[in-house]
Amino acid sequence: MAKVFIGGAWPYANGSLHLGRLASLLPGDVVARYFRAKGDEVLYVSGSDCHGTPVAVQAIQEGVSPSDIADRYHREFVECFDRMGFTYDLYTRTDQEFHHRVVQDLFLKLLENGHLYKKTVLQTYCETDQRFLPDRYVEGNCPVCGHRARGDQCDFCSTMLDPADLSEKTCKICGDPPIDRPTEHFYLALSRFQTALTEYAEKAQGWKENAVHLTRRYLDEGLQDRAATRDLTWGIDVPVEGFNEKKVYVWVEAVSGYLSASKQWASQTGSSWESFWLDEEKDLTAYYVHGKDNIPFHTLIWPALLLGVGGLHLPDRILSCEYMTLEGKKFSTSRNWAVWVPDILKRYQPDSIRYFLIANGPEKRDTDFSWREFIHSHNGELLGAFGNFVNRTLAFIDKSFGGRIPSGELSEEWIRATEDLYRDAGVLIEDGRLKEAIELIFTYVRQANKYFDEQKPWVQIKENREACGRTLYSCVQLIANLANLLEPFIPFSCEKIRTFLTLEKPSWQLIFVPADLQVQKLELLLERLDVSRIEEELSILEKQ
Ligand code: MF3
Ligand code: ZN
Repeated sequence: MAKVFIGGAWPYANGSLHLGRLASLLPGDVVARYFRAKGDEVLYVSGSDCHGTPVAVQAIQEGVSPSDIADRYHREFVECFDRMGFTYDLYTRTDQEFHHRVVQDLFLKLLENGHLYKKTVLQTYCETDQRFLPDRYVEGNCPVCGHRARGDQCDFCSTMLDPADLSEKTCKICGDPPIDRPTEHFYLALSRFQTALTEYAEKAQGWKENAVHLTRRYLDEGLQDRAATRDLTWGIDVPVEGFNEKKVYVWVEAVSGYLSASKQWASQTGSSWESFWLDEEKDLTAYYVHGKDNIPFHTLIWPALLLGVGGLHLPDRILSCEYMTLEGKKFSTSRNWAVWVPDILKRYQPDSIRYFLIANGPEKRDTDFSWREFIHSHNGELLGAFGNFVNRTLAFIDKSFGGRIPSGELSEEWIRATEDLYRDAGVLIEDGRLKEAIELIFTYVRQANKYFDEQKPWVQIKENREACGRTLYSCVQLIANLANLLEPFIPFSCEKIRTFLTLEKPSWQLIFVPADLQVQKLELLLERLDVSRIEEELSILEKQ
């Protein structure tokens, strides 16, 4: 049996999730559900990124402790993911003992293997706030493109930065210019992995194009050593004498969460984490799912750490999406230009959201979320094509056959088309091409509707009851198979179908529903959304 590890990015626990973030994480769940249905062994983990500056700064702003902030949003994330139907095998958090221990072990191992070295550097320090400034709280002009950039990365040209690279620096907390002050840190000797990582990236297959390009660019520019510790109070203690006051750099620590969560999952369930991590494991594929701002941390830093420890399996597939805009503008937490996941969940079904984010999500290029598109995609495609096919078939059986599936035979053509669809959609999903996969499945849904229209069961029932039964029998087979094929994407609707037709758990192969079976608990699969909601939502958005 093949094994599949899936690492979903760890959202910062400093604020609610918005749709753009959700769009970057959802592919992980689709892939996980698909491989489980196929019968592979899946380990899908993630957690809340509780350390890091964003959380610490949010705490300062609210006058509470960082752990209060982390608790609040971690709880909210757990609920959102749950309601959205995410099937993490473990969703954990970085601010807990287990993770701390794994990270400290990893740190010591890297030290022992000679990949970390001490260095005294000048660090940006704000005399007004009396603290060393975390990278992203230093602002200044990007040395590459000249735009105003954060100390960790330039959002404009994507260059990975160090605050020292910036000119005309200011402190993001108080706005004053900071000074430089000496401090000693551990550095990760990333430059020494230049050859190994170049080879690794060249051999890589199944990375999204943006990951291939960006990684190549970093490699061409030449990898720079990077500080692996920070002068912070909130985070994981550096496990070395004399450094106890400092913390492990949040990115080094957060990416290690993939390993720590796997170990935690293993210890909680009595399973083996090794079978998803050891280099010698055969038939193991590791997927990493995140947004494009996370790419170098997953294609360079995490592989370097894994190589540095040795014997561990590197990322195989990088599903790094582009950005989603909202009504044509960038999502902005500070300007509250966002659709918050807890809010949208109050008013819409998770499947409508999941469908939209996959069918119109930023898989390969930036895409836009607009309320108009959202409502129309639900009404037109999800309900219009799929929901209606299911409803009209089952309602017909209910009305004219007392809810008992009539007998019939699925044609050779339909059998072949269905088998082909399992195969082709499966290939696309494994490739992370979810948008094409769902499009392919919806082409089949439209063919199914066309079949229904052409057979005209409403005429057949009057002229030839048996022929009508055969039509409906065939339609039921298509529905049952769609409940498998669409399960990774819209699991809640598929679960309903599973109840109607007493189906077993999803599988990735042609299935049949026996004639004579009684349809159970029939209800509308999906409800139409009134288009007046478009204006309603837009005015809420403008006012919020
Ligand atoms: N917290 C980071 C973000 O929201 C993502 C961390 S992914 C991890 O961008 F792998 F590093 F954990
Ligand atoms: Zn720049």
